Amino acid sequence: MQVLITGGAGFIGSTIARRFLADGHRVRILDSLETGLLANIPADAEFIEADIRDTDTLGKACQGVEVILHQAAMVSVVLSVAEPSLCFDVNVVGTQRVLQAAVAAGARRVVMASSSAVYGNNPVQPKREDSPLDPLSPYADSKLTNEVNARYYSAYHGLETVCFRYFNVFGPRQRPDSPYSGVISILALKLMQDETFTIFGTGEQTRDFVFAEDVAGAITAAATQPGIRHEVLNVGSGRPTSLLELVELAAAAIGRPPKLAFAEGRAGDVMHSQADVTGLAQRLGYTARTSLDVGLARTLDWMQG
Ligand code: UD1
Repeated sequence: MQVLITGGAGFIGSTIARRFLADGHRVRILDSLETGLLANIPADAEFIEADIRDTDTLGKACQGVEVILHQAAMVSVVLSVAEPSLCFDVNVVGTQRVLQAAVAAGARRVVMASSSAVYGNNPVQPKREDSPLDPLSPYADSKLTNEVNARYYSAYHGLETVCFRYFNVFGPRQRPDSPYSGVISILALKLMQDETFTIFGTGEQTRDFVFAEDVAGAITAAATQPGIRHEVLNVGSGRPTSLLELVELAAAAIGRPPKLAFAEGRAGDVMHSQADVTGLAQRLGYTARTSLDVGLARTLDWMQG
């Protein structure tokens, strides 16, 4: 089938692109290259450089597309707090345009990236899709608004929609070069360079780390499964790992003791985050398979070139 991946030059989008090409699908990528990289785009994919808010180009990019895998977004919580209007414009207005373009072009389905950030500091563990929500940032707010919009497009325009609440995604091609980068990419780089890794808080906070190729597997199920109208599903490993455990695992994989420093916890940091993944298994028949050890080893291999 022909798919369009918005944000396909990004870390997660480019992992999805590789998976769909390997499965024999035709892949078109639309990306502004704001944070995505040209080097991430597979040679066999068609590439259009544009922002999702550019309705003309977006409309053309949707022509002949069966399923849209919408990954483009402003992805940083910290940036969203600094620039809430821009976050709303890119994430909410942009997503609304993607949904509208999908309907106009006659696309069947949109699978889009939401976030576990919608749960905020809700202390319930693991987080179920029907757990109380507590969006604490413009970023979380934008993702929740997109879920509501997707439901509307499904109910009133017959567009099939799947919203995936990603937990902490990691893997090859994740950029370690910004203070907003995912903790695994930052930690791996610091260990490799024998530099000090700073733990914010006690290190006892837990995260549900899910390997990007497993996310691509879940997206494949979401794109191909018949009989979907509107779904909102967690995408995680279902397992919590503390930051201290993560440091130990990564240091063992690299074979060097870590140099650690501790700093005050980040404002707004969630203490514990773990996905209940039964929804994904029941609705789409998919369960993440890659253990943290294996995913870490593959990420480190990639980083070491
Ligand atoms: C992640 C996502 C975010 C999403 C949220 C949902 C990334 C980059 N961010 O945020 O988009 O909305 O999950 O819950 O994937 N840490 C350190 N040292 C560092 C960097 C981080 O101790 O150098 C700590 C953080 O304080 C945090 C944990 O590691 O406690 C994970 O941080 P991070 O990878 O940035 O992800 P989240 O904050 O969970």
